[in-house]
Amino acid sequence: MTMAPIAVEDLEILLPEKDIQAEVKALAGRVASAYEGRPLLLVGVLKGAWVFLADLVRHIPFNVDVDFIKVSSYGNATDSSGEVKFEMDFSHSIQGKDVLIVEDIVDSGLTLKYLKKNLLTRKPASVRVCALLDKPERHQTDVEIDYRGFEIPDRFVVGYGLDCAGFFRNLPSVAALTPEQSSALVQARR
Ligand code: IMP
Repeated sequence: MTMAPIAVEDLEILLPEKDIQAEVKALAGRVASAYEGRPLLLVGVLKGAWVFLADLVRHIPFNVDVDFIKVSSYGNATDSSGEVKFEMDFSHSIQGKDVLIVEDIVDSGLTLKYLKKNLLTRKPASVRVCALLDKPERHQTDVEIDYRGFEIPDRFVVGYGLDCAGFFRNLPSVAALTPEQSSALVQARR
């Protein structure tokens, strides 16, 4: 195990745990009322969305199916290049299903755009998007987020499933890193 070269106390907490939990519960309420009585497939985008999906699903009071996909975008630690590759595909067909993509964060929006386009070719009944965090200032394309949690400024964030070079995924809050902190984490991983 590599220790993070930055103490949790030195992080700037942007969203405390209790605010995140309240928002996740509210989002789950909106999703539940929209899909009540219809079979719903929640699709977590790995790795970042697993913590969010795990909390979200426990506030939905009816049976839902869950699947995971993994995509990677080419680029450096903090910027995506817009080229997206499927690393792990669905375990079952999504044809005819109501699909809700569960994303941790929308940054440029390029991953989401690619994903939606790709999923629609598989003939689902519907595809909607639920994202906990959104950085509108960073969008490079039109992105439609049906269920959106927090709008955040143009900062690189970690915690609640999100990492920088593998660090701080297990932080229960969301913290913003300075560029120096991001570089220190990337260096520590080398
Ligand atoms: P996009 O394609 O630029 O919207 O990037 C989406 C993906 O980039 C997310 O699913 C995250 O994995 C990653 N990402 C974007 N911004 C951040 C951040 O601030 N912290 C951690 N990961 C991020």
